[in-house]
Amino acid sequence: MSHPIIADLNKRYTAKKYDSSKRISSEDMDVLKEAIRLSASSINSQPWKFIILETDVAKQRFHDTFANMHQFNQPHALEASHVILFAHNPHFTKDDYRKVVDAEVSSGHLPADMYDGMLNGGFTFAESNTDEAGFNGHWTKAQIYIALGNTLHVLARLGIASTPMEGVDSSLIGESFKDELGGYVCEFALAIGYHKDGEDYNYGLPKARLAMEDVITVL
Ligand SMILES: Cc1cc2nc3c(=O)[nH]c(=O)nc-3n(C[C@H](O)[C@H](O)[C@H](O)COP(=O)(O)O)c2cc1C
Repeated sequence: MSHPIIADLNKRYTAKKYDSSKRISSEDMDVLKEAIRLSASSINSQPWKFIILETDVAKQRFHDTFANMHQFNQPHALEASHVILFAHNPHFTKDDYRKVVDAEVSSGHLPADMYDGMLNGGFTFAESNTDEAGFNGHWTKAQIYIALGNTLHVLARLGIASTPMEGVDSSLIGESFKDELGGYVCEFALAIGYHKDGEDYNYGLPKARLAMEDVITVL
């Protein structure tokens, strides 16, 4: 199939070795940040934070969180141009949702007289995913994966390589980035940059996906 979307998605892949001399331009970073912000989420909850590690100091802090596990991903911490920590709010409350409904009205998306209807009606969805202790992290974590998918696609279009990493130490990240996370939880990160020519074994390989008929049913 020769459609440009399919060409981009065939070209995108998980980079295994970064060229530390190559940096993503600030223009591309601006596009990426705005694209991330525009990600969709259930009831427009946006229960997320994206912490972008750009300086050597910040990347070193991330590098040090690999002390106990998943060292196969550790080189990306310093070699990739940037790393994004994807974090979700494990206790999304009605007050958190109030900020969203405020934005709904101030943006002109929602008429002001529908404020209470969205706040109360929408939040029942969050409540149905919340336990007695107020934990709804399974649901909010699902939302940041939507942002990840969107980000991967945008990176493909920008010609920037990336490595999603569930192989991170959430607990050490939680300690090292406690102030920035502010109670949110990071269970995966995304390294982004440009691959190292000749040293990235995953570059240029064909996609290994299940057959169309195994995953898509058209009725
Ligand atoms: C949520 C998620 C977590 C992943 N975690 C890792 C990881 O920790 N380290 C790694 O090298 N690749 C990781 N991957 C990459 C996958 O193995 C890769 O996306 C998959 O094999 C498909 O290959 P492709 O991305 O090159 O198309 C992860 C991918 C996703 C979507």
